Amino acid sequence: GTGATSAGRGDGGPAPRRATIAARTLRTDRWWLQPAITVAALLAFVVYATVRAFQNAHYFSEPYISPFYSPCLSTRCEGDTFPELFTGPTWISPAIYILVFPLGIRLTCYYYRKAYYRSFWLSPPACAVAEPHRRYTGETRFPLVGQNVHRYFLYAALLINVVLFYDAVLAFRDETGEWGHMGLGTLVLLVNATLLALYSLSCHSCRHVVGGRLNNFSRHPLRYRAWTLVSRLNARHMQWAWASMASVALADLYVLLLATDTIRDVRFF
Ligand code: FES
Repeated sequence: GTGATSAGRGDGGPAPRRATIAARTLRTDRWWLQPAITVAALLAFVVYATVRAFQNAHYFSEPYISPFYSPCLSTRCEGDTFPELFTGPTWISPAIYILVFPLGIRLTCYYYRKAYYRSFWLSPPACAVAEPHRRYTGETRFPLVGQNVHRYFLYAALLINVVLFYDAVLAFRDETGEWGHMGLGTLVLLVNATLLALYSLSCHSCRHVVGGRLNNFSRHPLRYRAWTLVSRLNARHMQWAWASMASVALADLYVLLLATDTIRDVRFF
C-alpha cells in the first residue's frame, strides 16, 4: 500500500486536513455586520426586559396589562386578570415567576441558537470565517445537550399565548369594566398576541409535533394539512422571532408610558 500518504483518499484513514491558510478568513466583505447587529439587538432587548421584569411597577394601566407580567401567578399583582395561585414575597416581581418560559423558548429556539452561536460564540461568526475554538462537540454534551428541552418550552409558550389573547380580549373594556371599548392599547395587545402565537406556531418543534414521525401522509390528511400550514409559517420563523420580540417590548413600553401618565391612550371607540 501507499501507507500514510494516502490518508483520506478512500482507504479508511483520517479525512484530509484543510488547506493551511494562516488568515482567519479570506472574505473581504463586511461579514461581521450581521453578527454585530444581532449582538446589539439581542443585548438591547435583554437589558430592557431585565430592567422591566425586575422593576415590579408600571405594568398595568386599566384595562391593559404588560405581556411581561402576564399571566400573573401570585397575589402580588396589580390589575389581576388571572387566577392567583400563590402568595409570593413582595420583593419578588411577579414577572420573575413566568420569565423562565419566554426566556427558555427563545434561548433554546433553533433560530436563536443559530443567531447566538454565530454572534456571541463566534462558532463560526459567518460562512468561511474560522472560529476561535479549537474543539467542536456540537450539542452532544452538557450544557448544550440541554437544548433538547426546547419542545417543553414550546408547550408552555402555547399556553401563555392563550393567556395573552385573553388579556387582549379583556382590553375591549374601558376603565370602568364596560365592554365595547377599543383603544390603541387594545390593538397593541392584539397584534402582540398574534405575533407571539405565530412565533410559537412556526417553531421547528411544533412542525415536528404536528407532522413528524408519520410514514404516510395520505393516511393522515388532517395532520398533513396542519403540517403544510406550519411548514409555511416555519419558513419565516426567523422573521416571526424578531417581529414578536420587538412587539412584546413595544407592548410593554406602551403600558409603561400609560401607567406613568407619560401618554394617554388613543381611543377608537
Ligand atoms: Fe424557534 Fe421552536 S424553533 S421557537
